Amino acid sequence: MDRYDHVPYDSMPIAEADPARLFAVARLFGVPVPERWRVLEIGCGAGGHLVPLAARHPDDTWVGFDRATLPVQQAQGLAARLGATVDVVQLDLEDAVDALAGGSRPEAYDLIIAHGVYSWVPEAVQHAFLSLLARWLAPHGIAYLSVNCLPGWGLRGTLGAMLRYVAGDGAPEQQIGRARAFTALLADLVPETDPYGAWLRREAALIEQQPDSWMFHDLLAPTNRPVWLHELVAEAGEHGLQYLGDAKLDAMLPDRLPSAVQARLASLGGGQVQQEQLLDFVLARSFRRVLLCREQVPLSRELGPEVVEGLWVRGRLVGEGEGRFRSLDGDELSTASPLLRAVFGALAERRPEAVAVAELEKLGDPGTVRSNLLLAASRGLVELRSRGDGLVGRPGVRPVAEGVAAALAADGLVPSVLCQRVRLDGLERVMLPLLDGTRDTAALVDALVASGFTVSDRGGTVVSEGALRGWLEVEVPQRLRGMARSGLLVG
Ligand SMILES: C[S@@+](CC[C@H](N)C(=O)[O-])C[C@H]1O[C@@H](n2cnc3c(N)ncnc32)[C@H](O)[C@@H]1O
Repeated sequence: MDRYDHVPYDSMPIAEADPARLFAVARLFGVPVPERWRVLEIGCGAGGHLVPLAARHPDDTWVGFDRATLPVQQAQGLAARLGATVDVVQLDLEDAVDALAGGSRPEAYDLIIAHGVYSWVPEAVQHAFLSLLARWLAPHGIAYLSVNCLPGWGLRGTLGAMLRYVAGDGAPEQQIGRARAFTALLADLVPETDPYGAWLRREAALIEQQPDSWMFHDLLAPTNRPVWLHELVAEAGEHGLQYLGDAKLDAMLPDRLPSAVQARLASLGGGQVQQEQLLDFVLARSFRRVLLCREQVPLSRELGPEVVEGLWVRGRLVGEGEGRFRSLDGDELSTASPLLRAVFGALAERRPEAVAVAELEKLGDPGTVRSNLLLAASRGLVELRSRGDGLVGRPGVRPVAEGVAAALAADGLVPSVLCQRVRLDGLERVMLPLLDGTRDTAALVDALVASGFTVSDRGGTVVSEGALRGWLEVEVPQRLRGMARSGLLVG
């Protein structure tokens, strides 16, 4: 039985593989963005990323395949539940180069996504993977492949090898249990004062937060081949493909490093790939989101302000007053410029709504706005997108939930428009489907009471209707604000 049938991979939406974000990165380096998208996902698993996207973008074309039986059935089931037009087929990568042809499938794809596949397959399958990209990418198409990379995964992979030894054979649950117990033991046995002990403790803390499926499919995977960026790029080159960039602009550019470090790295010379490889050495990077395109596509590495023209931008920052902002990663931005205060203030205020660059340009000198948006993107303070997404940062008077999230609310775990998973509590599960644009807060409270929703006091007694109403009048507006921030509201 396939490992992925035995322990299903926890198939999630992947924010960094949102097509609108990937096409924006491509656009920055001179690749034209298609009006309509034809998207293929390799190893799509249970469709946690692909299917909600297909449901949200019915005018685009969506195809996915995976070798394992159970995940493909789950993806097809999710598509049926959401009424999504997406073609999910059971196929092995090694056959797919030829077998993808036929039916109503596209002749070529503008975007091919493969999250968590390339490093996890044997060498022969990696060749089939690159052949598939060479065969199926449209002339200006881009491919996203996330990989475990060196040097960072070299260290983690060593721990993985120890855990595989200790986990032995047997049922997956037993292997996972033995590996988890041994990770904790090892971190305890080596003194914290020892650099090895300090590293083990950090790894143990990280592993503890990961689901069992990650332990099984990453650390305990029999095949897990981390790559050096330069070697992957050279192999892609043999298939007529070139390195376009990283899906996260702030991961490919050194702008978040202290300027002295940036200068010393730059003094070592080399092109884009060599500089990024050096960056990986400095950061001990263990994971990458590599973008490739055909070698014939002319790329421009000069990031002038004009490259953001026509794009959309989502703030990843919170205003702290007096021109100071803090990014969601904790980085700081401070500006005395009234124009930039207005631009970043609007993005912080309206987050997570994606705002058209054209709209922000109206606040002052367009060149200044564009160059500072680009700078902010290279530092991870904003995200660039090729399309808007209809989100609102503040709930409307009669709020509207996004359709996919509303349809899946009863599950308690929903994919947001930000391509992130959002956990809903009992109230939010009932509330989200009620947000159809017809109810203000008072009507929502009425509808929740009428739905039979109850809350209990500390002693476990269900509270009276009056007390429930009082509680809901406070909670409902708060929950609405939280839902808007999480990317669940479109009105
Ligand atoms: C780590 S999971 C990632 C799943 C999905 N991309 C996600 O992020 O949720 C890797 C997936 O690749 C699939 N896979 C592995 N080898 C494959 C092959 N040779 N052909 C097709 N799919 C394969 C597995 O079945 C599994 O669903």
